[in-house]
Amino acid sequence: MDTLFQDKTHDEGRQGEALMLEPGNKNNGRKLYIESYGCAMNFSDSEIVASILLERGFETTTDHNNADVIFINTCSIRENAEQRVRNRLKEFAVAKLKNPGMVVGVLGCMAERLKSKFLEEEKLVDVVVGPDAYRDLPNLIDQVDDGQRAVNVLLSREETYADISPVRLNSNGINAFVSIMRGCDNMCSFCVVPFTRGRERSRDPESIVAECTDLYNKGYREVTLLGQNVDSYKYKSESQESESPEVVNFADLLSLVAQVSPELRIRFSTSHPKDITDEVLYTIKKYDNICKYIHLPVQSGNSRVLELMNRTYDREWYMNRIDAIRRILPGCAISTDVITGFCTETEEEHQETLSMMDYVKYDFAYMFMYSERPGTLAAKRYADDIPEPVKRRRLSEVVQKQQQYSHERLKLLVGSTQKVLIEGFSKKSDKDYCGRSDQNAMVVFPVAESYKPGQYVDVHIDRCTTATLIGVVV
Ligand code: SAH
Ligand code: SF4
Ligand code: F3S
Repeated sequence: MDTLFQDKTHDEGRQGEALMLEPGNKNNGRKLYIESYGCAMNFSDSEIVASILLERGFETTTDHNNADVIFINTCSIRENAEQRVRNRLKEFAVAKLKNPGMVVGVLGCMAERLKSKFLEEEKLVDVVVGPDAYRDLPNLIDQVDDGQRAVNVLLSREETYADISPVRLNSNGINAFVSIMRGCDNMCSFCVVPFTRGRERSRDPESIVAECTDLYNKGYREVTLLGQNVDSYKYKSESQESESPEVVNFADLLSLVAQVSPELRIRFSTSHPKDITDEVLYTIKKYDNICKYIHLPVQSGNSRVLELMNRTYDREWYMNRIDAIRRILPGCAISTDVITGFCTETEEEHQETLSMMDYVKYDFAYMFMYSERPGTLAAKRYADDIPEPVKRRRLSEVVQKQQQYSHERLKLLVGSTQKVLIEGFSKKSDKDYCGRSDQNAMVVFPVAESYKPGQYVDVHIDRCTTATLIGVVV
């Protein structure tokens, strides 16, 4: 799974770092365990949560059995995402039996969706906190320590946590997420995010550039700018000198961050087909360190289904954006998200998703069966009428086609030389390093003393598997 949809746990602590401990602070040395599900936004939020609590004397631990506070940062995007969290809570219940003083908290999108209902449904949960209320966590933990159960699920129109310097959890010291905005103002009919994350708001560019500069100075070499719809990033600063407010859009922000250092790679996610402009594409072209890789979720290749989904673009518009990317950024990698079996989708309409895949030949895709989410426009308006076996069969057709194109895309790179940022040892062997190319392809090559993680190397690609390029440094 990629950066945006890591469905794995994420629970590394910050060890050995000097902390300013207030004498007599009751939280000194209390152990926090935090586990994240869902999108990169959640993983990034967990780093903000850790920062807020470490300031208050907490330490992190990677073992939930010896934690004083367990937080699970949750995702509601599909039903199975919520089911996984409930299963995990059952395991935490076992740990709590052994340590009754343990605080168990649910954070993130599921907390926001279910609110205090969570406390009724899951007896072991002590605290429920939505994504905009993390500053209140120390106070909420105090309430639990006093024997109450606590909830704060207020959404905000302003909160961006801009001033909080995230504690990098589970970090390799090379790649980092930087949140540039929160919430979403689109109303895709299938999607729960506008309800769990609230209104869209952009973080001020100065704090984004400062965070990226700090990361660079600490040795990081790649930042991924995060937002549900990065192309609608917009920050209005009320400058004292000029009459009119100065507006920074996403293209402007990309330029600002790209200038932090030519040695800092910039990635971003997610782009929305209705909003990605030629200006953004020309900015990507202008800077060598902005990676030539765009995640542009299509969801469906059929215009009627796209309309029901309320995506506000149609098949032709999407193809036009793909053409623009191919024209302005030749060689740019493109990935997508696809949903199969959305309400009323016919066999012919599903075929149009497959033909869109033939048109674009995506480098990579995340593919899902439609999962009805309570409270969304689709749940209210349309019957979830495609039988699960049909959704599943359509999904497997999409997956099969994607596997073919992913492999074909990699095969085209055999014989080329790719600039790779070394991220660490390969998963399979410590005789090999791995890292990603500009276009986000995973590249594996032999370890040598003359280079190390965090450095760029040129790798000649000798061969490929279905998911990885294999080569040697030239
Ligand atoms: N903001 C991003 C997507 C965030 S959610 C965008 O607009 O593209 C990530 C992906 O999950 C979506 O692109 C969609 O493909 C999938 N998804 C969202 N809701 C879903 C649902 N109810 N059922 C199945 N997949 C869903
Ligand atoms: Fe959900 Fe659509 Fe917003 Fe993406 S753009 S988060 S799919 S509502
Ligand atoms: Fe992300 Fe899941 Fe919430 S995808 S925004 S954590 S519903």
